[in-house]
Amino acid sequence: MKEVVLGIDVGTSSVKAIAVDKQGSVVAVAKEELNIYHDFPGYSEQDPDEWFEAAASCVKQLRQDEAMAEYVIKGLSFSGQMHGLVLLNEVLELLRRAILWNDTRSSEQCKQIINQLGNYVLGNPVLEGFTLTKLLWVKEHEPKNWEQAHVFMLPKDYVRFKFTNQINMEYSDGSSTLLLDPVTNEWSKETGECFGMKDIYPELVPSTAKVGHITASLARELGLEDDVAVFAGGGDNACGAVGAGVMNANETLCSIGTSGVVLSCETEEDKTMYHNIHMFKHAKMHMSYAMGVTLAAGDSLSWLKRTVFPNLDFAEIVDLAAQSQPGSNGLLFAPYLSGERTPHGDANIRGSFIGLSGMHTEADMARAVLEGITFSLYDSIAYLRETGKNISEIVAIGGGAQSEFWLQLQADIFNADIKSLRNSEGPSMGAAMIAAYGLGWFESLEACVDQFIEYGAVYHPNTERHQRYQEFYKLYQQVYPQTKDITKGLLELTRKH
Ligand code: XUL
Repeated sequence: MKEVVLGIDVGTSSVKAIAVDKQGSVVAVAKEELNIYHDFPGYSEQDPDEWFEAAASCVKQLRQDEAMAEYVIKGLSFSGQMHGLVLLNEVLELLRRAILWNDTRSSEQCKQIINQLGNYVLGNPVLEGFTLTKLLWVKEHEPKNWEQAHVFMLPKDYVRFKFTNQINMEYSDGSSTLLLDPVTNEWSKETGECFGMKDIYPELVPSTAKVGHITASLARELGLEDDVAVFAGGGDNACGAVGAGVMNANETLCSIGTSGVVLSCETEEDKTMYHNIHMFKHAKMHMSYAMGVTLAAGDSLSWLKRTVFPNLDFAEIVDLAAQSQPGSNGLLFAPYLSGERTPHGDANIRGSFIGLSGMHTEADMARAVLEGITFSLYDSIAYLRETGKNISEIVAIGGGAQSEFWLQLQADIFNADIKSLRNSEGPSMGAAMIAAYGLGWFESLEACVDQFIEYGAVYHPNTERHQRYQEFYKLYQQVYPQTKDITKGLLELTRKH
């Protein structure tokens, strides 16, 4: 029998699992959509058991896929949406739904942390997305759950726990909680104690650590051998970077999924504390990355599809956008549908179309949305460049890498070469590579990259278009300061009713 590893990505809109052989070929893919609950403005929750059911179902589908008939599954690993808070009680049962990365209810808790410790804690800005703020929200608003809380974990860690019965967190996700000391690589319990945090920390392990095997009962249920090794894995952005071969200092990734991120690798010693740029651990040991986040990237496009173009698929919307002009005939879109992380760090701003007139067409609206998302990511690139980073080449993954038009748009706006991948599986590929390395198939993650990753076309910036986009970008930069009070006022008015 030939051998494969599985990479399972616990995303926000879906769980995706891929089976990859020793040559790096994807043998089979499975996907399950997920529900998301927005019970109140700013709330964003999911049921962790739904993640587990979806992941188990994906593995079962892979096992039953005809293409997998000659293969045996030797190991697997996970990637996952970051920051989301999962709380378990003493008997390791869920206490509540998970509070996700894009949930912004914890502004008051952010204020408390900032008042006591300043705008940056343990190398990261204090933002609603990060786990400590969610823990403090539960402490304040759900004292019964807080009293019973025995351990906290992040999304993929819960799924891995259900697969193995082992409780761990690894550094790449752990560093996104505002509780990990980036220098000692240990929990900063002193930071937690400042806010009455309980000792509910899980054990920390490296991304490539073997944490155990699939439990015998689950292996039976899914039709697997009972010695399938399970490796810790990483946050989706760290795994996206591994899966794109972005692992060395100054190598840069742009990933456009539900959120959009630009991340640039750094050595552990570097510190970028600036304009809400985040600083997290990479899945590769002794590397970190500086990252800017657009909260609603693909999410803005999904919103446009849902509300304006329900009968078009995403590719058709992008084709429509291509019919308009750079600058969308004078229409700007700010993608702040759920607030913004980088550079504004403001959970209470909202999006806008600016410049709308009777002459604007559907094509202009579609293009303005794509340009607005890309301008927002350019904000992060501009600030990363200001810190001295040379960003002249960027590997693109995710939805933004699915169309030539959007890849070229990124090159033109970012003024950088955009490198595509031949096989763009995103974070699930990084998770599969962690399992492949963990099993000893390769002597390093780099050797695995050499075997698994093949780059595709490179999109070069067009100077004339870049200059044209710069003119619109300058106006785009004014949208936040000029609209923040209006959109906050609108939010407050709607919250009152
Ligand atoms: C990163 C972030 C998102 C999530 C969801 O800080 O919040 O990218 O990981 O994918």
